[in-house]
Amino acid sequence: MPKGNQRSWEKRLQKGPDRNMLDFVQSLDIDWQLYPYDITGSIAHARMLANKGLIPKAAFNAIRKGLLQIERQIRSGRFTFDKTLEDIHMAIEAALVRRIGRAGLMLHTARSRNDQVATDIRLWMKDRIHQVQQQIVNLQKGLVKLASGYIDQVMPAYTHLQRAQPVSIAAYILSHVEPLERDHIRMGNCMAMVDCSPLGCGAVAGSTLPIDCQMTAKELGFAHLCRNSIDAVADRDFAAEFIFDCAMIGLHLSRLATDWIIFSSTEFGFIRIDDAFCTSSSMMPQKRNPDALELVRAKAASLYGALVAILSVLRSLPSGYNRDLQEDKVHIFSAAQTTEACLDMTAQVVAATRFQPDRIAAGLDDGFLDATALAEYLVGKGIPFRRAHGIVGSLVADCDRQRLRLRDLPLGRLRRYCRKIDKDVYKVLGAANVARSYRSFGAAGTKQAAQMVAYWTKVLQAR
Ligand code: ARG
Repeated sequence: MPKGNQRSWEKRLQKGPDRNMLDFVQSLDIDWQLYPYDITGSIAHARMLANKGLIPKAAFNAIRKGLLQIERQIRSGRFTFDKTLEDIHMAIEAALVRRIGRAGLMLHTARSRNDQVATDIRLWMKDRIHQVQQQIVNLQKGLVKLASGYIDQVMPAYTHLQRAQPVSIAAYILSHVEPLERDHIRMGNCMAMVDCSPLGCGAVAGSTLPIDCQMTAKELGFAHLCRNSIDAVADRDFAAEFIFDCAMIGLHLSRLATDWIIFSSTEFGFIRIDDAFCTSSSMMPQKRNPDALELVRAKAASLYGALVAILSVLRSLPSGYNRDLQEDKVHIFSAAQTTEACLDMTAQVVAATRFQPDRIAAGLDDGFLDATALAEYLVGKGIPFRRAHGIVGSLVADCDRQRLRLRDLPLGRLRRYCRKIDKDVYKVLGAANVARSYRSFGAAGTKQAAQMVAYWTKVLQAR
């Protein structure tokens, strides 16, 4: 007779699990990180069971004490994880039974690993969302601080990576604060999805025992209860949403990274990143490479990968819990870790970067950044915009051939293109003049930048 299965939760099986199979299905490698949440969840569950008379008070006290000891043990690295126990839930429960005996056998009353793991991940994610939001605010503050030093300084804004219109350097820097604000809001919206307690939903159908799901939800700080147990054990929408939000953060950081990689090149010379955040070359002794930003940009790719992976894990799963869901943690953990690392690194690079307004100014009047403002000047003189656009287009083409700037042309020459041009035209010619002339809400001029630096300083101070 083969020896029977010793694992208490698998008496149904005639033999112990195949070793390779066990190694393949175990998730302890990854989900051990959930231990603080697993323990908090178990303590809340046990307290509720005692409160409802489903386990003795003394059993709850022993469970609580035992779990807290196990938590300390894990935290201090003195806990041995036995992978044959499959996951963090079983590892902790087994350790508890070893420690306190019979009372430990009562903990899993009216509970399944299915609602347990869903609870753990949600608790974990609530912490991660707070953390990511804090890091977003920290980066925003760094950008606003940087921007505040360059309100009246001017740089070109680009479309198609071609010189477009002159803007306040501060407005450019603040253009990275706005997407981060949307990321902050998105993470907050994700929280609304995460903040639901599935504890008590059991394996798939809840329990016939008179448990109190409100009580555990309240103790664990959940705002709501999951209303349908079948859905609650299968729902990972929040996980996909979290990773999407991380992917958007990655996208936004990659935009800043690419800008600044270009801006730090000798060709541009718009910014200087401190030596502490540059690397050199093993061969070329002169090099100062922006590797940190290059990696921020590249790591966004892993976030997209995690997003595709979680959506693919979830696609076509049947209702209820399926073991496929165990793979969710691989992707949410890596997404959180990558996002936090990239936000942190970007904030440090921002703090270590200075713009070089003098170098930017030196080339500012190349590329006809004032052409659009000149066309708008003509509109002010009663010329239909489409016609004004054509006039300035011809002017620019002529200047370009003769290597002249618009503001170099004497009034008489300008008037050959349009008689309505007056000597007040020189107030809107030249990049610096244009940057001071913007009037529309949200424009990237110096006036608006001053207001927006004040706005963001106030908004972020309150966080
Ligand atoms: N380790 C599993 C997970 O992370 C826990 C749930 C397993 N449940 C089960 N019935 N096999 O999803």
